[in-house]
Amino acid sequence: MTEIPEHLLKRSRERRAALGLGGDDAAAGGDAPAATPAVSSSSAPAASAAAPAAPAGRAAAKPAAAPPPPKPDSPVVVAYKKRRRIPVWAMAALGLMPIWVFMYARSLTPVEEEAEGPLGLGAEIYSNCASCHGGDGGGGVGYAFSGGSVLATFPNIEDQLRYVYYGTGEYNLAGVEIYGDPNREGGPHITGERGVMPQFGATAGGALTDYELLSVVCHERYTLGGADPTMEPWAEEYEQWCSEESEVFAALEGGQYTLPTMDQFVEGIIPIGEAPVEGSGPQE
Ligand code: HEC
Repeated sequence: MTEIPEHLLKRSRERRAALGLGGDDAAAGGDAPAATPAVSSSSAPAASAAAPAAPAGRAAAKPAAAPPPPKPDSPVVVAYKKRRRIPVWAMAALGLMPIWVFMYARSLTPVEEEAEGPLGLGAEIYSNCASCHGGDGGGGVGYAFSGGSVLATFPNIEDQLRYVYYGTGEYNLAGVEIYGDPNREGGPHITGERGVMPQFGATAGGALTDYELLSVVCHERYTLGGADPTMEPWAEEYEQWCSEESEVFAALEGGQYTLPTMDQFVEGIIPIGEAPVEGSGPQE
């Protein structure tokens, strides 16, 4: 048992005396362990004896020691406790809310016409080009395609296919200076003048299959470059190379022909050929 220090006992005795409970002398002279029972045993009779003498003091002392009664809730808390809880089924519905919001938002965005054929594929393949030519073909390190620029450089799709196929490096090696229309409005584009256009042709060591390469060139001419597939001079080219019925695209996809050998399959086109050659102007 721990001993109660004398100064605490003394304070306790003084306190009791002050409250009129007696016991002040009860422990007087006793040592600490003896003091404890003496205090408690003497307190009861002393208290009853002292009761008439100091009822007020005692009454006041007791409730003060008891824990205070709980405070009444504030109106906010009362309202909180009285509120209706969210039912379990509603929790499930709330849980699905994000999905619902997502689907609703999706339904608001106009469904892009799922372009099939070369133009649909070309829009995806264009991610290989956007870093240098701009997401919307507005240009960057490489030339812009928008505003008819690419059509001015390449009145004939074959020349554009050839340039993307072999890239600046092969043109330089072959000593071909003008890869597009030599009489281009605003001046011809000279090989390497703007920078290095990578080669993309598969057999030339590039990253795209031949039908992917055709599709992205179609995308640059018709979607970004603004060629109108229903109007002269583009309608015939579009039908042959870039429409959903394109026989060239089908032949490339089927693997029977490559871009360099396409002139053996389709009569009357400008050969793309096994090596870079100078570009051409509008055909009569
Ligand atoms: C690393 C940057 C880069 C990437 C990627 C790139 N190009 Fe180019 N491109 C150029 C540069 C630079 C030129 C100018 C080349 C020159 O001056 O000879 C160019 C020129 C061209 C031209 C000629 C435009 C004109 O009007 O003269 C075409 C067409 C073209 N790129 C198509 C593509 C396609 C298609 C892709 C994606 C499959 C692509 N480019 C990806 C940098 C790039």
